[in-house]
Amino acid sequence: MVKRRIKIFDTSLRDGEQSPRCKLNIKRKIEIAKKLEELGVDVIEAGFPISSPLDFNSVQEISKSISNTTICALSRALKKDIEIAANSLKFAKNPRIHTGIGTSNCHIRYKFNSNKDKIMDLAINAVKYAKKFVEDVEFYAEDAGRTENDFLAKICENVIKYGATVINIADTTGFCLPENYGKKIRFLKENVKGIDKISLSTHCHNDLGLATANSLYGIINGAQQVECTINGIGERAGNTSLEEIVMIIKKNNYLNLFSNINTKFLSYISKLVSNHTGIKIQPHKAIVGLNAFSHSSGIHQDGVIKKKETYEIIDPIEIGLNKSSIILTSKSGRAALNYRYKKLGYNLSKNSLDKIYSIFIEYADKKNEINNKELRIIIEKACLNNKTLNL
Ligand code: KIV
Ligand code: ZN
Repeated sequence: MVKRRIKIFDTSLRDGEQSPRCKLNIKRKIEIAKKLEELGVDVIEAGFPISSPLDFNSVQEISKSISNTTICALSRALKKDIEIAANSLKFAKNPRIHTGIGTSNCHIRYKFNSNKDKIMDLAINAVKYAKKFVEDVEFYAEDAGRTENDFLAKICENVIKYGATVINIADTTGFCLPENYGKKIRFLKENVKGIDKISLSTHCHNDLGLATANSLYGIINGAQQVECTINGIGERAGNTSLEEIVMIIKKNNYLNLFSNINTKFLSYISKLVSNHTGIKIQPHKAIVGLNAFSHSSGIHQDGVIKKKETYEIIDPIEIGLNKSSIILTSKSGRAALNYRYKKLGYNLSKNSLDKIYSIFIEYADKKNEINNKELRIIIEKACLNNKTLNL
């Protein structure tokens, strides 16, 4: 069966930068954009140009520095926004304007104090106007996650008529369950006239920790593009994490999907984005967290030493790391201790290992992790205490 390509739309520099307390200067944004291009993303959302002169200049400078990847600029469904977005993209080889409006009852009533007919007109006019500047126009239905499917389908049908090339079904509030989000995408695929002419895109927030799962259900049900960020950064609890969705696609062959991402750069770009934005990565973050390839408990360590695949579904080399690590803590067993001593050049008999292990556990109970220096101290102590120790 032929595999279906999923396009990766990275919004680290736009939605990602909306993370509270995150601020990037232009130089850093350009550096990240260049690395995103090397990583193989299809689209870089470079900013929201009307929001500030810095954002405008960033989109413009990124447009000059990037050769092949599509550069996208965000706008509201307002003429002024669209003009400024178009202007910021004038040096882009492949420009895209991303315009849209809130479509849920909650947004229509409380944010816009409006009604469905007026929102429909604004959506159509925004797409029509953006098409005057660029061929590639993505329409976002903000809060599509909480939008009635029939109204969403009508909006999609109309913006397609007026030239939208991509439609973003945004779960802005991270409200959906994977099954519901998947059904929404399937409903649109099956009920919107002209849907085959355009791509559907997922844009899922992580308020309930479901962003990646929702994106996955979106693409399984027919979406062709995923919007995501490095390390999952973004507004409030963040977005779908690029490294997670990409590795899910890569590791699950039966999905018959693929992306253009060179996964060997994932670890590098994750650290780069974390350093530049100042947003730390939680140690247990999937794929790129410090602990993602560290084995600490005795049972797991024993398995990994015998055969890596017992507890590792990803070879660390696949994401650009050298190897996984065996961490020595009070939860570690003899197999791990022996393994680490072997790496230091010691060949311990079973008897010696037993003796050293009991000293090791005393140390480990007082400390988080035992390092090589401490392993040497433990050996010295064991030798002094026991003349019969056979190393
Ligand atoms: O979450 C959202 O709805 C957005 C849109 C502006 C695309 O970020
Ligand atoms: Zn968003």
